[in-house]
Order: sequence, then structure tokens, then C-alpha cells
Amino acid sequence: MRAVVEDLAAGTVRYYGCPAEETGAGKVFMARAGAFDGLDAAITWHPGSSISAMRGSSLAIDHATFRFFGKTSHAAGAPELGRSALDAVELMNIGVNFLREHIIEAARIHYVITNGGGQPLRADMKAIRARLKALYDIDRDDELRTAHANPYIRELYARYLGEPLSHRSHELLHTHYQSRKRIQDEDVLVSGSDEAQEKLPVTICVGTSCFKRGSQQLLQELTDFLKENNLQDQVAIKATFCHERCDRGPTANVDGTIMEKCSFEALRAEVVKRLRSAVAK
Ligand code: FES
Repeated sequence: MRAVVEDLAAGTVRYYGCPAEETGAGKVFMARAGAFDGLDAAITWHPGSSISAMRGSSLAIDHATFRFFGKTSHAAGAPELGRSALDAVELMNIGVNFLREHIIEAARIHYVITNGGGQPLRADMKAIRARLKALYDIDRDDELRTAHANPYIRELYARYLGEPLSHRSHELLHTHYQSRKRIQDEDVLVSGSDEAQEKLPVTICVGTSCFKRGSQQLLQELTDFLKENNLQDQVAIKATFCHERCDRGPTANVDGTIMEKCSFEALRAEVVKRLRSAVAK
């Protein structure tokens, strides 16, 4: 710099501090405001790990913000009535990516979807507060917050259902509970005759949960035990696929009594007890 100044017949060296030099585009605003008017040349210094002269130029930068507005509708119930702002964003980005092929080599285009539509929800309080505020604003602007405050719903209810708890409303709106087995009547005879009514009926669950807890082994051990003791004609063993107590397997049903977390020893003892009591009768 000293050499430059010494070679000049006369001149002024101005020193500028240039804030927000990259994404902030600080020099653009300074130029617009006339801060660089009257300069013959400009030399810039970029702090770095070494100080040296460098020729060349940098890329200019500009920003643009695009806002897209969609139309809400239920995604599952009536998607055809909605207009997705996100679809429009994606279409624009596809177009921009094709545009890259046709712009000068030095140019760059980058983009981001601000907050990505608010998803996924983030854990930092700033984002959560912004989302809460947005939800609160939506709620505050809603005129109707509950179905029973909606005059159209009230009119429909009165017209078609009459009074709350009317026979028709009960018939159409109320639900009933009934136990539903996942698999009905699928027991498979494993050992003993099919005349189960004359035998001691024993059912062992081989559904997935009980199987993982060792029911197959239980079945095998009971079958072997009955064979070794010539009792196979007195017991009808069936495999079933669920006793609906899946978290307490393996399960076995000995003539109507369900045994949970059933070990072979417990099952054998129960079977022997039932057979003895049948003989005693
Ligand atoms: S799987 Fe055995 S009780 Fe359901």
C-alpha cells in the first residue's frame, strides 16, 4: 500500500470497514448509498490464515424469498379440494435444477425450504414457541372451536337425530364392545382321538407370542410324557393359535382352565390331577 501511495502524484486513501460482507451483502448497500463514489480503485483485504496478494474476483450474491400459499383440505378425506403449497415449491425447485444446465459456469444457485414446513418438530424452544404462536393464531381466528357450537351441525343433529341419546342417535352413533378373537375355531388336533368329549381336552397355544416363549417345547414334552405313560388315549391335545393372553405365554387350556406362563411341570401336574379325579369318579 505504501508503494502505491508513493507512486501517486496525489491522492487519498480511504479505509472502509465493510460489515456483513457475505450473505448480508453489506457492500451492496454501501455502494447504493454512494460510499464508494469517486474511487479510482479498490483493494480488499480478507482476513485469513496467511496474508498475501491475490488476483481475481469473487462471486456476487443476491437473495430472493418466494412465498407459496396453498389451500387446506383433509389429506385423506378430500385431497382433491386442496392445493399444496409444498408441491409448488418442489416444482419450482425442479425447474431451478434444470435451469442450472443453462447458466454460466461461474454462477451458483442454492435454496432452502425455510423450516421445512415446520416438520419434523424440533426440540429447541425458539422453534417450539414459533409453532405455538402459529397454532394459537389459528385457534384465535377460528370462529367455531367445537362441533356442538357449529349451527350447521346442530341443525343436522336436530333434523336427523332429534335429541341427544335419542333412539336413532344411539343406533347410529354408539358403538358396542365385543371380544373378537383374531383367529376363530382353528384348533388343530395333535394327539389323542378326535372324540375330545371323552378325553381330557388340553389345548396349547402355538401362536407367535407363546411360540417365542417355548410353547412348542411344552407341546412336545406333554406328548412325549403321555406316550411314555400310555396315556395318549385319555387326553386330546390340540394346538391353538391364541388364547388372547399373549403377554403371559406360554398358555395352555386344560379342560377350560387357562394356565399362564405354563411350565411343563405345572402342565403335567394339572393333567395328572384331572385324570386321577376322572378315574376317582
Ligand atoms: S399367542 Fe398365545 S395366547 Fe396369544
